[in-house]
Amino acid sequence: MSIIEILSTEKYISGSEIGRFLGISRDAVHKRINRLRQIGYTIKSSSKGYIIVKKCELFNEYEIEANLKKPLNICKTIKYYKETASTQTAVKKLALKNFGEGVVVIAEKQTKGYGRIKRVWNSNAGGLWFSMLLKPVIRPDGSSILSLLFSIALSRILEKKYGISSEIKWPNDILICGKKVAGIIIEMSAGQDIINWVAAGIGVNINNSLPEDLKNISISIKEVLKREIDRTEFIVAFLTEFESLYFNFQSGGFKQFLEEYNSKVAYKDALVTVDSVCNDAITGKNFGIDESGRLIIETKNKIEKIISGTLRRAEN
Ligand code: BTN
Repeated sequence: MSIIEILSTEKYISGSEIGRFLGISRDAVHKRINRLRQIGYTIKSSSKGYIIVKKCELFNEYEIEANLKKPLNICKTIKYYKETASTQTAVKKLALKNFGEGVVVIAEKQTKGYGRIKRVWNSNAGGLWFSMLLKPVIRPDGSSILSLLFSIALSRILEKKYGISSEIKWPNDILICGKKVAGIIIEMSAGQDIINWVAAGIGVNINNSLPEDLKNISISIKEVLKREIDRTEFIVAFLTEFESLYFNFQSGGFKQFLEEYNSKVAYKDALVTVDSVCNDAITGKNFGIDESGRLIIETKNKIEKIISGTLRRAEN
């Protein structure tokens, strides 16, 4: 049990009892309580002891750790920042320092958040901005599949926990009512046959307000549900879901998820264009993805299988 869990039981608990639970002195308990107060917890103290009073959403590494029902391999260490340039940049630095799989870096606010193709990612307070350090045992060319798994996990959580149905705009934008609620970026270091590390960055518009210029293309969960949601609950559910997807994928491949992904594909059977940094844009009918995560497009002349790109509805 963590100190947060002990203090959240809705009854006062004395310093010496807390010390007994944690195997530390009363002095050390006092220090930890002061630290929690410094980071925003309201902790009442009386002659009966201490208790946490939850006045607002508390979002930090302690809350997340306390709410995880079981230890997760993909989340062994959590680093939480009130503000950082980008959790992606932070996690990549840790990867270069040889940190192992399972580091999750979270920020309340990012000043230089970025998305795919180095697009600026708006990261105001209230959203969920995090990056994960992973070391999957798969071939480097399978890494693009990882982003599809993240999309599946996000889409499942939206449905299971909040009753929100979403679509996946290949490869990995999550849409609600046609507007983007979440995006994923995958960066990695790899040799010819092995992946050294993957930095997976995930941004979800949760309680953050969106700037005017994004309002017609983006949406937040708060807007959909007309209430704020608890980000700790969201990320705990997401990490737990992703853990099992990730390990099932490494042992059994992507085929087991193909039907689910394709059932959620946005603009299915519609005329779409895929823009790419390296190749000409391709326009055709969207048939969803194949077992390797490639997008199947039927153009006028043939079936194309596309590895990467940015999808949009074709202009008539
Ligand atoms: C995209 O849709 O292009 C991907 C967006 C990814 C944004 C997240 S927010 C957390 C992490 N840190 C970043 O700088 N980017 C990713």
